[in-house]
Amino acid sequence: MTFCKSFGLVWFLHTCVTVYARKCVYPPLINATREGLFDDLMNSCYSSVDLVNTYTARIHEVNSTLRPLLEINLDALREAEVLDEERKNGYTRGGLHGIPVLIKESIGTADQMQTTAGSYALYGSKVFHDATVVSKLRDHGAIVLGKTSMSEWMNFRSSNSSNGWTAWGGQTSGAYFPMQDPNGSSSGSAVAVDLGLAVAALGTETVGSILFPSEVNNIVGIKPTVGLTSRYGVIPISEHQDTIGPMARTVKDAASVLEAIAGRDPRDNYTLASPNRTGPLYVNACRLEGLQGKRIGIPRNALDTIGGLPHGAAVLAAFEAATHVLTEAGATIIQDANLTAWPELLTSSSVKQVLYADFTTSIERYLSGLKTNPNQIHTLQELRNYTQTDPREDYPRRDTAEWDAALALGITNTSPEFWPLYQKNLRIGGEGGILGALSRHNLDALILPTSLAAYMSSVVGTPVITVPLGAYPKGTSVIYNDFGNLVQVAENIPFGISFMGAHWSEETLIGMAYAFEQRTLFRETLTRYIEPHTEVTRRQGDEAADKGT
Ligand SMILES: *[C@@H]1O[C@H](CO)[C@@H](O)[C@H](O)[C@H]1NC(C)=O
Ligand SMILES: *[C@@H]1O[C@H](CO)[C@@H](O)[C@H](O)[C@H]1NC(C)=O
Ligand SMILES: *[C@@H]1O[C@H](CO)[C@@H](O)[C@H](O)[C@H]1NC(C)=O
Ligand SMILES: *[C@@H]1O[C@H](CO)[C@@H](O)[C@H](O)[C@H]1NC(C)=O
Ligand SMILES: *[C@@H]1O[C@H](CO)[C@@H](O)[C@H](O)[C@H]1NC(C)=O
Ligand SMILES: *[C@@H]1O[C@H](CO)[C@@H](O)[C@H](O)[C@H]1NC(C)=O
Ligand SMILES: *[C@@H]1O[C@H](CO)[C@@H](O)[C@H](O)[C@H]1NC(C)=O
Ligand SMILES: *[C@@H]1O[C@H](CO)[C@@H](O)[C@H](O)[C@H]1NC(C)=O
Repeated sequence: MTFCKSFGLVWFLHTCVTVYARKCVYPPLINATREGLFDDLMNSCYSSVDLVNTYTARIHEVNSTLRPLLEINLDALREAEVLDEERKNGYTRGGLHGIPVLIKESIGTADQMQTTAGSYALYGSKVFHDATVVSKLRDHGAIVLGKTSMSEWMNFRSSNSSNGWTAWGGQTSGAYFPMQDPNGSSSGSAVAVDLGLAVAALGTETVGSILFPSEVNNIVGIKPTVGLTSRYGVIPISEHQDTIGPMARTVKDAASVLEAIAGRDPRDNYTLASPNRTGPLYVNACRLEGLQGKRIGIPRNALDTIGGLPHGAAVLAAFEAATHVLTEAGATIIQDANLTAWPELLTSSSVKQVLYADFTTSIERYLSGLKTNPNQIHTLQELRNYTQTDPREDYPRRDTAEWDAALALGITNTSPEFWPLYQKNLRIGGEGGILGALSRHNLDALILPTSLAAYMSSVVGTPVITVPLGAYPKGTSVIYNDFGNLVQVAENIPFGISFMGAHWSEETLIGMAYAFEQRTLFRETLTRYIEPHTEVTRRQGDEAADKGT
């Protein structure tokens, strides 16, 4: 370098190039963070076009086996070119500029890609506009690389299907055990993020659909407060419970995607109740001191639910060990912060009935808003009939039990019968659930193994974040799903821990999750039986520049 400086302008420029090239990280994509890729892009180590090509190659390496992707966005390369050009001209749209992300198939896009919830009923349908979360991603510079597989109809069709199956995409599985159940319904988003097929993905959750697949695929998932992120343009189950959230390999990456997609939207009036935030709250919340002085409760009575299971002991042991990490990081653990209505939650029919009434209302509203509706399906009755008669829908082997029950109940969410059911749920999840436990013990959060964390929070719309915690040990007996085609429990299959808080407490939850993640880094201790190997490399021609050093 001193050498170069003494050689005038030409050598000086050459040195600059060399210094930039030296700063390139070329992170392994299975591990890459948003920040790492963003910095490399800013340093011209490679371009967004290179990233799109590399991720596409990785997708093709694993898609025939694990099937995490339903479609690659044919416009992605062109979008990458535009974003590369903007960057070259010194302009960046935001922290996701030129960064490839994936979205769950049910999140609507007004482009060449399908929005069908995996079904043939909506195959070929067209929407007028991108979903608000998609426009927001694009406003922040993200490249929507493709659409991920899911459990068909967000797992709200059959009582006896398999997680991660769709009529037109087939069966998705996870990378930690052959034919691993990827859980659902945001199955492909979780598998794709785990394998480094994009930096992050969006999922949707009504009851566990972000949290469960995140946990079993060894990633971080944030289920935001209902109303923090707009549901406009997303195929719905329930206006009272649906929420869109980020799935990523690190808490900080999930936080930066949440930053991009959160916010008020006049087209989803639930978002109008959200705090009017300014600044990078969620990314700034990622601090090692995030657990300092926090009061965290353990609802022991909910833990009883897995205590008796043969594989429950491994989860509980890892969970107890995690409480020591929390204490050492400055948190106070409060035992017996019980969820008083937990037994009622597990048996109350109102929990499902609210979803049936909501789905009947919401799906018909969605269908009425389509630009193209190729099968002319306008009602739940017509949707059910179509699904039962198209042989590709695998009926009756996979039934339509959820829709049968919704039609049999015969109410919408404006029927007089609805209000008492909904109020009952609010009492169970509120005073009898999360909100009661938080306020009785003056807590910042509750923690539970993720497999238990989704239920109470689903009925009251409160946020949850899951972080990797461990995996089943050697010798764990294999347990198949009820459908008989996927392995739900076996050695090496991951599980997670969840931080659950009050409405709009994402900032605090992210701080705690980050502080825990950074102290444990469990994600990196696990290995997969299959991984893609294509990586971003030095830009062609830049080797010459490097030789000067
Ligand atoms: C992921 O990154 C960490 C460092 O942050 C490193 O120790 C680890 O080996 C990496 N894993 C892979 C698979 O590259
Ligand atoms: C991935 O595989 C599924 C199932 O075979 C297929 O439907 C889909 O088109 C494939 N995706 C890509 C991007 O090749
Ligand atoms: C909220 O939006 C829904 C659907 O767009 C509409 O049916 C409802 O009347 C709205 N509620 C309020 C209070 O604006
Ligand atoms: C949000 O707050 C800003 C000031 O901080 C204000 O200008 C803006 O109108 C508010 N937006 C909404 C939707 O309330
Ligand atoms: C909380 O639940 C645990 C486990 O079921 C039970 O042993 C304990 O007595 C309960 N505590 C309170 C205060 O209800
Ligand atoms: C049911 O679906 C089939 C095939 O899609 C159609 O031919 C038939 O008219 C439908 N029946 C009703 C009652 O909608
Ligand atoms: C699913 O349920 C339907 C209707 O009860 C039944 O016909 C079918 O055999 C079931 N499928 C499986 C795999 O159990
Ligand atoms: C996975 O999904 C099923 C629903 O198909 C659920 O019952 C189960 O508890 C989930 N498993 C885990 C580990 O979250």
